[in-house]
Amino acid sequence: MAEKWIRIDSIEWIKTDVAQNYSIGISIINGRKVCIVKTGEELHAVQNSCPHAGGNLSHGWMEENMLICPIHRHKYNLLTGRGAEQQGDCLKTYELKQTDEGVFIKFTRSFLNPFNWFK
Ligand code: FES
Repeated sequence: MAEKWIRIDSIEWIKTDVAQNYSIGISIINGRKVCIVKTGEELHAVQNSCPHAGGNLSHGWMEENMLICPIHRHKYNLLTGRGAEQQGDCLKTYELKQTDEGVFIKFTRSFLNPFNWFK
């Protein structure tokens, strides 16, 4: 499947928890909202829309390595995207890489152009 690395030009940080050492924000990339979570020095990227009912995950919070949706409190593993037991859902996670030119996110062609999903 075709893929493309796109530089993340800006992140709007929405929540920072100094005591637990994380920040949650949002970035709009090619018109799509992506939730960005910084834990310590590590950045993670997941879909912003909660798979349960569309909650805004960038307004959620972290409990250990789980991202919590602010609407019905479903929990998602930040590294794997897997929902907690019994939820039966998962998040799309995106690979990130840091270079001298910035932070890049890897998208597939179907993400870049939703009309390509059937190809
Ligand atoms: S919308 Fe996220 S848990 Fe329901």
